[in-house]
Amino acid sequence: MPWEPTVLNPTTALNRPASRSRFIKQRVARTDEIPVGATKQVDFEGELVLLVNVDGEYLAISDRCSHADASLSQGTRDGHHITCPHHGAKFDLRTGEALTLPAVAPVESFAVLVENGELFLEEKE
Ligand code: FES
Repeated sequence: MPWEPTVLNPTTALNRPASRSRFIKQRVARTDEIPVGATKQVDFEGELVLLVNVDGEYLAISDRCSHADASLSQGTRDGHHITCPHHGAKFDLRTGEALTLPAVAPVESFAVLVENGELFLEEKE
């Protein structure tokens, strides 16, 4: 039988809870909790999110691997990439894009806002 690609619903592919409202801005941490090179798992509207400080740039993606739901915060970071601890898929922390198999779907990425030493997350457009 020939191989056929699986067509994913974009909302499902990003592991985005259907119940979450759009345009939420939520405080999740203080900047001094996440120094350069550090990571932190935070809660955004009931979803676990991986927040990373890459050379002073704060980046956030869903903490659930799109392959089999492993926690990406337990993975290995290298620059703007994080490798899933279970089967080794690599994701781009800037976009959530899956860069290597076995993951083929992206994970959701979030906008990080810095205001007065506080970090806020928002959904990206
Ligand atoms: S659970 Fe992440 S690569 Fe399989």
